[in-house]
Amino acid sequence: MLLYWPGIYANSDTSSRLYNRDPYLKTTILYTLFMQNNLICLYPQFCENISIEGLYLAHQIHKLGTKEMPFVYANFLSSLDGRIALEDSSQCSSYIPKHLTTASDFRLFMELQAQADCLITHGGYMRALNEGRLGNILQIRDKDLIAWRRDNGLKPQPAVVIASASLNFPFHKSLLEHQQAVYIATGQDADPERTQYWKDKGHPILVVGEDQMVHGAALISKLTSLGYKGIYLIAGPQMLDTVIREKQLSRLYLTITHQLIGGKDFRTLLTGSMLGPEGNLMLETLYYEPNSPIGSGQFFMQFDLNQSTKSAEQELEVNH
Ligand SMILES: NC(=O)c1ccc[n+]([C@@H]2O[C@H](COP(=O)([O-])OP(=O)(O)OC[C@H]3O[C@@H](n4cnc5c(N)ncnc54)[C@H](OP(=O)(O)O)[C@@H]3O)[C@@H](O)[C@H]2O)c1
Repeated sequence: MLLYWPGIYANSDTSSRLYNRDPYLKTTILYTLFMQNNLICLYPQFCENISIEGLYLAHQIHKLGTKEMPFVYANFLSSLDGRIALEDSSQCSSYIPKHLTTASDFRLFMELQAQADCLITHGGYMRALNEGRLGNILQIRDKDLIAWRRDNGLKPQPAVVIASASLNFPFHKSLLEHQQAVYIATGQDADPERTQYWKDKGHPILVVGEDQMVHGAALISKLTSLGYKGIYLIAGPQMLDTVIREKQLSRLYLTITHQLIGGKDFRTLLTGSMLGPEGNLMLETLYYEPNSPIGSGQFFMQFDLNQSTKSAEQELEVNH
């Protein structure tokens, strides 16, 4: 909604939800100016005048994972017609239309990020960050959320996993500045020269796939063995696809803005072939924010996934 406020977003050249060029500054200004207790809970029980602030912190995600079974969660923003991004064929890239994004949605993204001890991103994001096409979401920046982490026994910043088949991406200096543990995840057929390049730089390589690609189950097993309990997937549809397909996702947070955006070429939540029961989600909460984006509205939804179908082999691996 706030994209339309003159003097604040009027000259904004790009505004993707997770990857805004200057998300923290915009969010702080807009949040302070406009955020109200205007959420309505529609499920499981009707309730009005709920504040965005603290809504997802209250989920206490950092306590939901165990050393045997980490809590793996993701968060996406979609239009009503299922688009999470549009393709820009002239630039050979994709982007999230500005009018889909809101300060309240970004606030919730940050609350989820603040509760993680490990983030999963990917090589494409590192390239975009380096080229200045996207903003930096590798660290928690909000002072209150940093304090919240400290008070809740989490390290100042989460570890970061960079999933990549090509291994062809630049490192970002902020990861060193914030002393974050960084892992590079790839498949066993990854280019040996690129693998050696990253090893020489001192970064642990997680080989978690039989081909060049990272596979969800192997990755999460590896992160479990490394002791991570709250794993936040901030990657795109390919990584979401593998963690859902391989029954690794514990929870999906989904914002649906009540906008039809059309566009012939677009991205949607998943990339792979048809799913079976692993694609079944259970609605836990549904919040409605009226008139945001302005002239429309949005749902904030939380779905849990049944992971009881994890393979016996995987359970064994975790237990040893
Ligand atoms: N609306 C939303 O909530 C939302 C959320 C996320 C993304 N998006 C948007 O959706 C569009 C597409 O997303 P995206 O580019 O982030 O994601 P993507 O197309 O799913 O992934 C892109 C890159 O991730 C790496 N990768 C993904 N899965 C991998 C796997 N299993 N194994 C190894 N590497 C893997 C690859 O890096 P290498 O090339 O280095 O091998 C690949 O090039 C973008 O415009 C993005 O901004 C929207």
